[in-house]
Amino acid sequence: MQFKLAVLPGDGIGPEITTEAVKVLKAIGSRFNHDFSLEYGLLGGVAIDKTGAALPGDTLKLCRDSDAVLLGAVGDPKWDNDPQARVRPEDGLLALRKGLGLFANLRPIKVFPVLVNAANLKPEVLRGVDFIFVRELTGGIYFGLPRKRWQTSRGWRAVDTMSYSEREIERIVRVGFELARARLQKLVSVDKANVLESSRLWRQVTTEVAKAYPDVELEHMFVDACAMRLIQNPAYFDVLVTSNMFGDILTDEASMLAGSLGMLPSASLAGVPREGAGIFGLYEPSHGSAPRRAGLNVANPLATILSIPMMLRYSLGLVREAQAVEDAVGEVLSEGYRTYDIMSEGKVKVGTREMGDLVAGKAGG
Ligand code: IPM
Ligand code: MG
Repeated sequence: MQFKLAVLPGDGIGPEITTEAVKVLKAIGSRFNHDFSLEYGLLGGVAIDKTGAALPGDTLKLCRDSDAVLLGAVGDPKWDNDPQARVRPEDGLLALRKGLGLFANLRPIKVFPVLVNAANLKPEVLRGVDFIFVRELTGGIYFGLPRKRWQTSRGWRAVDTMSYSEREIERIVRVGFELARARLQKLVSVDKANVLESSRLWRQVTTEVAKAYPDVELEHMFVDACAMRLIQNPAYFDVLVTSNMFGDILTDEASMLAGSLGMLPSASLAGVPREGAGIFGLYEPSHGSAPRRAGLNVANPLATILSIPMMLRYSLGLVREAQAVEDAVGEVLSEGYRTYDIMSEGKVKVGTREMGDLVAGKAGG
């Protein structure tokens, strides 16, 4: 089959890890006879440098004309410490999510048994951890208005707005229920309904949507309690659904269960995911651009590589091919190869390129 993919390497380690994921994709293409035609676009700091815009119009169009998008990472410290910067690399990513209607961000947290010793938590806490976060991605405090900074007679003041409509809550919560239905029929909805009005609406709408899913057990959990439970008993969870900012924070926390943020893929979808269905989506690692590691051939490419099977499953309908990539990663880890971030005693340390070559070698059959 033929597929058209947009590739946006971005900043920092983005280009290096994307190169390795593309290697794996090509290996799958030749083994299963698919033609992945790749077109590259600019996003983030590199786009600002070359065009003045974090999301150039050409890039948005390229993505809209593709079956799916593969993204590296965006962000460069050049902009971070300038509160007055007019445009930032991250603006490009947010505009892309919004522009492509990618409201559902899936972040699976799965502990590879061979990596339990690489994590900071006790192996007995990590055993059996396998859950998925559904994070709302195009609303909430990331996009709410007003959002501004202004001078008053008593100094500066700033405001952000956490706002959700019934419709926005309903469609993301449905994604949670659908995933839960296909897994262990247990959904945790995370909010701060004891304090926030937007969370009270979230809870009300979620409870309403639950009526259409009598087979799924719904539990509401406050975000602070959830943050604690994720460390205390992470195996408790199966599917969690939450708002944009809570999801941003909780998924970084949860990443530590998998040993490293370098292991976590993500999918951002424009519809309800179903295995084998062709839903448009953007696939990227859950981590950032790690500028200090850029160009050193040390970054772990596995989060990006593991985003490929998510793309194969949700956007391209290639389930067997997806399994082949996941198996390849599992085998390489079982054989003892590790990048620096998941390294432990007695294992073989490899760089970004070597890890990509190893996985591509196995994925190619
Ligand atoms: C993420 C990142 C982004 C976010 C940044 C880079 C804008 O932290 O994907 O989790 O906050 O959504
Ligand atoms: Mg984040």
